[in-house]
Amino acid sequence: MTENQDELERFVRGLPKAELHLHIEGSLEPEQMFEFGRRNKVDMPFANVEAVRAAYEFSNLQDFLDIYYQGAAVLRTEQDFEDLAMAYFRRLQADGGLYAEIFFDPQTHTDRGLPFSVAADGLLSGMAKAATELGIGSKLIMCFLRHLDEDSAFATLKQAEPYLDRIAGVGLDSSEVGHPPSKFARLFEAAGERGLKRVAHAGEEGPPEYVWEALDLLKVDRIDHGNRALEDPRLIERLVNEQMTLTVCPLSNLKLCVVDDLARHPIPRMLELGLRATVNSDDPAYFGGYVGDNYLALARQSGVSREDLVKLAKNSFVGSFLSDGDVIRGAHAVDLYADSFS
Ligand code: ADE
Ligand code: ZN
Repeated sequence: MTENQDELERFVRGLPKAELHLHIEGSLEPEQMFEFGRRNKVDMPFANVEAVRAAYEFSNLQDFLDIYYQGAAVLRTEQDFEDLAMAYFRRLQADGGLYAEIFFDPQTHTDRGLPFSVAADGLLSGMAKAATELGIGSKLIMCFLRHLDEDSAFATLKQAEPYLDRIAGVGLDSSEVGHPPSKFARLFEAAGERGLKRVAHAGEEGPPEYVWEALDLLKVDRIDHGNRALEDPRLIERLVNEQMTLTVCPLSNLKLCVVDDLARHPIPRMLELGLRATVNSDDPAYFGGYVGDNYLALARQSGVSREDLVKLAKNSFVGSFLSDGDVIRGAHAVDLYADSFS
């Protein structure tokens, strides 16, 4: 590594940042998969950690989802979820992360017989521990699996009732194409009535129309991914005017063939257009890197400047569900850090 590359890496890893698009089940590293599998006596379909990693070759989102839902089967107890969350927060801290809004998929767990409380209580204890032991703040967002039906999503919202004071919002994930946001318009209305924030994956593989639907029918506060919004000039104008946050995930886009090369990743163009893009890891254990690795890959391969990195880090606080005061403190920490480097 040259000295400049070394300095770039130091800059990126120390840059204060928040992560807004992270599926906690997607932070399950193969080593942990074996550890949890062993302690829960779950049969593993892989001989060893190397075999698991070798299976992580995906041609599209569905390829990944098939293996990802299989991996989550080793998570059985509150302790598993707490440990999973703490391991993620330690990685986040090593990458300069101060705060995260983490997704979980309750239906992945309730559909295999775990009570809603196992994942929810385990994650909430991991989050509390991260706050006291690491000084890392976080909020929890529960995602609905869009390949399942509206009834299942409503049943999940009902199971979440006792937790709604500790859940910041709802999201929509899983197989995008063929499952447009319109399928969940009534669900998102019910979530809004309960005071929950709303986000949805849109425009990852799905067309710009799905992004319009997420805005108009789901009334989202953020768009997760949003890459394909760039195909529609009127949509770009709307997203810029509303300063809608896009939670973009470069290494995920590469692994799932949403982009063919990071040299052609859309983030530089998004910033040029005035879109409020942020950088996130999505499912770091499956896509080859945590949030710092995503910033670094962009800086090395996509022609993103230091100024852009600073802008992206500030956007991560501005686009969060933190209080106004905490957003200002986060953005200020980014500025102070950048000044100390120049
Ligand atoms: N679940 C986990 N990661 C996802 C992604 N990138 N898109 C849709 N659903 C997901
Ligand atoms: Zn995602």
